[in-house]
Amino acid sequence: MQLDIHPLHPVFAAEVIGLDLTQGTDPELANKIHAAMDQYSVLVIKNQHLNDDQQMAFAQSLGTLESTPAQVSIDKQRLKHRAMVDISNLDESGALLGANDRRRLFNLGNMLWHTDSSFKSTPALYSMLHARAIPPEGGNTEFADMRAAWDTLAPAVQQRIEYSVCDHSLLYSRALLGFDAFTQEEQQTFAPVPQRLVRKHPGSGRRSLFLASHIGAVHGMPRPEALMLIRDLMEHATQKERVYAHPWQVNDLVIWDNRCTMHRGRAYDDQRYTRDMRRLTLQDSAPTLLQPA
Ligand code: OGA
Ligand code: MN
Repeated sequence: MQLDIHPLHPVFAAEVIGLDLTQGTDPELANKIHAAMDQYSVLVIKNQHLNDDQQMAFAQSLGTLESTPAQVSIDKQRLKHRAMVDISNLDESGALLGANDRRRLFNLGNMLWHTDSSFKSTPALYSMLHARAIPPEGGNTEFADMRAAWDTLAPAVQQRIEYSVCDHSLLYSRALLGFDAFTQEEQQTFAPVPQRLVRKHPGSGRRSLFLASHIGAVHGMPRPEALMLIRDLMEHATQKERVYAHPWQVNDLVIWDNRCTMHRGRAYDDQRYTRDMRRLTLQDSAPTLLQPA
């Protein structure tokens, strides 16, 4: 059986129809999903009534889960699985996070363009975000195609940055919003890691720009020049024609390839409405500097 795939955008992103992932994923289906991901980078699968265990089982059928933290440390997890990232505005009792809650202020960083876990030495492969509750307005997630971003760069710029290496850290992206309430332990956990700026996407052989708001330095470049270059590339990569905006419905599952997309959350009234999203993240094979150029 072929996957029933409907493109959502001229250059990437597609919806897959007719799947029921509560029934588990056999290797044949997993392979078809990988092939579709290699082509489209973002897949939307609607009407998936997954609980946490089923979402875990689906994610594990596609690869190895990330286990190290991607968030500031919290005393009590709301979610039962440690690997599940809580992309919500709720505390462990299910109440809305207050305006000054540290977790809320940290999570606002998800509204900056980024790729998940580029601040870890081995970054993320896919992220799989499932919507359990959504606000009546706002709260879209936007995706940008970083292979198209590379393809459309001027050749002189491509040559200039081809072998560049950037430092990524959560400390850098949060500093952009003035968030600096990191404990000493977090400062160590989130110390900068080097990543290639230009990657080769194994499944398609295409190059992609590996950008994120987590970048705070480019090796061998004065800092203002580096940050200006990154800002320019970000602007180029996120032009409207390379962006797909996803309007969520409950039980949407969206999978994206962090090697060749960026994404960001959009605003909603989080002091009034619940938005409960849960993310599982697969690990890439190795640090980007150890992957083929
Ligand atoms: C994420 C993320 C944005 C959003 O789940 O990694 O950045 O719209 N989400 O919630
Ligand atoms: Mn993210």
